[in-house]
Amino acid sequence: MGKTLNPEVGLHLSVPVLGCRYRRPVQTRQPQFLEVSDAQAQAANRGDWDREADSYQAEHGEFLRDTGFLWSPEGVDEADVRLLGEVAGSRVLEVGSGAGQCSRWLQSNGAEVVAFDLSWRQLQHSRRLDLETSIDVPTVCATATAIPLAAATFDLACSAFGALPFILDIERALTEVGRVLRPGGRFVFSVVHPLRWVFPDDPTEAGLTAARSYFDRTPYVEIDDEGSLTYAEPHHTLGDWISAIGAAGLTVERLVEPEWPPGQDRVWGGWGPVRGAFVPGTAIFVTRQPD
Ligand SMILES: C[S@@+](CC[C@H](N)C(=O)[O-])C[C@H]1O[C@@H](n2cnc3c(N)ncnc32)[C@H](O)[C@@H]1O
Repeated sequence: MGKTLNPEVGLHLSVPVLGCRYRRPVQTRQPQFLEVSDAQAQAANRGDWDREADSYQAEHGEFLRDTGFLWSPEGVDEADVRLLGEVAGSRVLEVGSGAGQCSRWLQSNGAEVVAFDLSWRQLQHSRRLDLETSIDVPTVCATATAIPLAAATFDLACSAFGALPFILDIERALTEVGRVLRPGGRFVFSVVHPLRWVFPDDPTEAGLTAARSYFDRTPYVEIDDEGSLTYAEPHHTLGDWISAIGAAGLTVERLVEPEWPPGQDRVWGGWGPVRGAFVPGTAIFVTRQPD
């Protein structure tokens, strides 16, 4: 068991390795592993994404492309892999859409899209890209554990590292996505590969020595100087994901573990060619709502 967040009793910074966050840790905050509730994590993460959205888009926007659908830092492109199948004429929900690059690609390929995200600042970037590309993505500010949309109204749902890597209660989020899907609808989502949690979040060889138990689910967190939680990222094992998908009533069609592409040198947080040669960084689940 990990420690529990309790500002009354102070905090102990005992764990030197970082977690598996999708973007780099903010240097002024103390990283550690600590038990937090899903509500605490979501409140912290909303603030974190609002604060960090500008630098995130500045750092990764060019790689993501304003109208492009990348599943992961390995550069897996939906235009090549077609994990969603045919999207033209489909009604598609993007979960944790950020600046809506994936939604914009879907719309430009004939889909009717609705996108939602927890962070208003990320959605402001989405609006900025609407204006720059003349492709308008309808957005809602919402959390994946309480999607404010009607049941059985989408043919497809997708999420490229959106929402799910940051949620403790993944069964609830998956159940919500399943609820808005029509029978037979597919939900494809990418997350940090669970194996990554064993290693320090370091793209160099130093990040190749196992440092934590795969079975320790204590979330990675960051705490500010006042003792407030500012960021949380949970760990779920592969078995946890499979169980949660099943409990949400969805079935797994495929699990894609992208290999690092030869010749790609770009480092994204803990992802890069050195570790990519040895361990997977991303898991892409292709799931389906039964007919
Ligand atoms: C890494 S971005 C993914 C967006 C885009 N695919 C990309 O690669 O930039 C993660 C997004 O998930 C959003 N997010 C985090 N927790 C969420 C939640 N509980 N519900 C909805 N969105 C959430 C964040 O605000 C952020 O915009």
